[in-house]
Amino acid sequence: KDDVLPHITDKVSAESLRIAAHELTTTTNVVGFPTETVYGLGGSALNDEAVRSIYRAKNRPSDNPLIVHVSSIDQLKRKILPAGYEIPAAYHKLIEQFWPGPLTILLPVDEASPVSKLVTANQPTVAVRIPSHPIARALIALSDTPLAAPSANASTRPSPTMASHVYHDLQGKIPYILDGGPCTVGVESTVVDGLCKPPMLLRPGGVSMEEILLHGGPEWSHTVVAKKTASASEPVRTPGMKYRHYSPTAKVVLFIHCGDGIAAIAKYLTDNQISAHTTKIAVFKSSKFAGADQISGDIAMERELGRTGQEASRNLFRLLREADEHGIDLILVEGVEETDAGLAVMNRLSKAAMETVEGVEA
Ligand code: TXA
Ligand code: MG
Repeated sequence: KDDVLPHITDKVSAESLRIAAHELTTTTNVVGFPTETVYGLGGSALNDEAVRSIYRAKNRPSDNPLIVHVSSIDQLKRKILPAGYEIPAAYHKLIEQFWPGPLTILLPVDEASPVSKLVTANQPTVAVRIPSHPIARALIALSDTPLAAPSANASTRPSPTMASHVYHDLQGKIPYILDGGPCTVGVESTVVDGLCKPPMLLRPGGVSMEEILLHGGPEWSHTVVAKKTASASEPVRTPGMKYRHYSPTAKVVLFIHCGDGIAAIAKYLTDNQISAHTTKIAVFKSSKFAGADQISGDIAMERELGRTGQEASRNLFRLLREADEHGIDLILVEGVEETDAGLAVMNRLSKAAMETVEGVEA
């Protein structure tokens, strides 16, 4: 076993960790646990039945592969990689810089791999990361089991950034949730493929494109960014792309490059004959919408998404869920710059949005 048990916060007792680890090693049940990005729904990546439990609890399409979480490179080598296999050099600098942390890499798998075929969903690769959250790493180290773990939301719902979100979506379907408090990153890990040339950014996330360019080494300077969406019939590099995602019950409208926030909102409501008296409206503001509380009629819910991409990352999924709790019908969200942490936020927002309003002038 990995002998270094990371420091555990007082949020989850050693006893709770042992109970969860015992469940993972002696049953095919799955457990909700915190990571620095979002809460995960973990089950043994080496056991078909446990992986089936994950897909079942989430109601996830089985052609969308899962990320395998390990507690250390040593565990990755002992439990997953073929003896003597060297992690490709393209990843070395990234691993040094970002593991443990919100970076997922693809490694090749073959027939002989101990990883369940249900985890990889017929891809020739397996996605792997070492989370930095102490509870996640302690759970994986204690059970000494690589955990396949998608985000612990019901399929299509916004990813969970608090234990209560997991409870809301999965109560009655899983035996335990470890509550580690709110996630600090708030969006999922960055998924990169360094096996192809040039390498690809398959999903923007907690590690920014700028950070990859800065630390990845020369081969990453030509990184290709995968398309945001793909049609259902198209073969895609990262299967998650083709599914509806991150959707609250409310309709989300994304505003980008709008010169004057209040004018843009007012115009949208007029054009679409929407009255704040009959439609419960929420406004999420980043910068230009700062005075949006002054538009006519009552805005039922008004929140700061965040002034920076990082703040917006931390708040986005929680706010989408809060809007549902308030019975909101329509969420008007002001986009953020697609730089640094903002790229991942805009990726999630454009998938959540039914409509995008661009560049409405005052
Ligand atoms: O931050 C995270 O990554 C969270 C936490 C729990 O670690 N997990 C997460 O998992 O977001 P999930 O299942 O919601 O998203 C995994 C993404 C999907 O877009 C999936 O298509 C992609 O990773 N993926 C997984 N394995 C892949 C593979 N072999 N090739 C290409 N894409 C893969
Ligand atoms: Mg997910």
